[in-house]
Amino acid sequence: MTKFYVTTPIYYPNDVPHIGHAYTTLAADVLARWNRIKGNNVWFLTGTDEHGKKIEQAAKKKGKKPKEFVDELVLKFKDAWKKLNIEYSRFIRTTDKDHEKNVQEILQKVFDKGDIYKGEYEGFYCTGCEAYYTEKDLIDGCCPIHKTKIEKLKEESYFFKLSKYQKPLLDLYKKNPDFISPKNRRQEIINRVKEGLNDLSISRASFDWGIKLPFDKKHIAYVWFDALFNYYSGENGFWEPDIQLIGKDILWFHTVYWPAFLLSAGIKLPKKIFAHGWWTFDKEKISKSRGKVVNIDDLVAIAGVDSARYFLFRATPFGEDGDFSEKALIQRHNNELANKLGNLVSRVAGLIEKNGVEKTENELIRKLDKKKIAKLFDDLEFDKVLNEIFAFIDVCNEYVQNKKPWETGDKKVLYELKESILEIAKLLWPFIPSTSEKITKQFSATNIKKGEILFKKI
Ligand code: MSP
Repeated sequence: MTKFYVTTPIYYPNDVPHIGHAYTTLAADVLARWNRIKGNNVWFLTGTDEHGKKIEQAAKKKGKKPKEFVDELVLKFKDAWKKLNIEYSRFIRTTDKDHEKNVQEILQKVFDKGDIYKGEYEGFYCTGCEAYYTEKDLIDGCCPIHKTKIEKLKEESYFFKLSKYQKPLLDLYKKNPDFISPKNRRQEIINRVKEGLNDLSISRASFDWGIKLPFDKKHIAYVWFDALFNYYSGENGFWEPDIQLIGKDILWFHTVYWPAFLLSAGIKLPKKIFAHGWWTFDKEKISKSRGKVVNIDDLVAIAGVDSARYFLFRATPFGEDGDFSEKALIQRHNNELANKLGNLVSRVAGLIEKNGVEKTENELIRKLDKKKIAKLFDDLEFDKVLNEIFAFIDVCNEYVQNKKPWETGDKKVLYELKESILEIAKLLWPFIPSTSEKITKQFSATNIKKGEILFKKI
């Protein structure tokens, strides 16, 4: 069996999960399910990024200890993934003992190799981003992302010799052009790396919510050093990742810091880092203050789990930015899931219930290009996968219309349709698993019956 290892970023449990988090996790679920269909042995890792100042501050605001605070929020993430029908293999937490031990071992290894040295960090740090900034990155003295006043730090710190990895990183991007995906994101990283890399502060001594450096217990590891290694702590014998899904905002961490840390630790590199775009809401950024947050319950309440899953991958090419609107979701639910898929299934089931089927050469199913769909799936072109499948659903609906089995009672035509619908259900399983399972069950029965309506119109 071929192994397939897919990861999502681990999310900051400083608040409840929203659609942005759900998007990456759903994409990993789609890929994981597709690989299960292909017969691969799949490992799908997701989890939470629990250390660092950001979490510590969020806990303090609620008057809680960090661990107690994250324990509650982690349940919300697990609950959300369950509601969205996401089947991961492990939910890793950076407070898991095996992870903490792993990070310490790696820190020691990198230290022994001479890639970590003690110095003093003086500069800017945005706790919201958990990232270092130089003066020229700032906009009016504020974080370019959060637009909030930025902290100036001056403290003893350990540094990772990132500068040493400039050449090896550039070699990597050249040797493995897929490492940074999609293609249009490659050049910006290459250009920045070419400009030169500063050594990276990888420890903090001014607070203690983190993993202690094994060689200096006064320091804790920089939260990104800790977090990135979750992918290695949770690999379960599947190393190296086939694909690591992330949002475009964290591409730098994953295509510069991450491979440099791995090279230093002497660990094989992941095959591909894929950055998807960002969702806005009615053209505005997710923002609590403006009420533009779609949390998971709200998302599911619009038209159900499968319609939400379907919409997120149908509406926008994975990799590009998309705008989420409730209206657009409902339209697709009505026009595509209810009218096209739902009608086909209920009409054909009703006709089979009346007339039965008779095995024959299947001309209809030849119009479905399975090879093309497989390639699109592997290339993460989910919107195109769905386009192909829905184009075939149109073909099937036209076939019913033209062959008029309600007049002819043609059992052979109904057999072709039945087999085609089973194939459609199989290919849609990664996107709309529970509907797909219902259809499969209905059409695999000895006595096929009309059954319940799959998508009620809204
Ligand atoms: N903890 C880090 C990741 C560490 S991975 C070793 C982190 N966490 S996060 O909770 O802030 O965000 C995680 C992911 O959610 C990112 O990939 C980010 O792109 C994604 N999204 C957050 N908001 C989003 C949208 N509005 N749209 C799409 N994805 C978004 O970063």
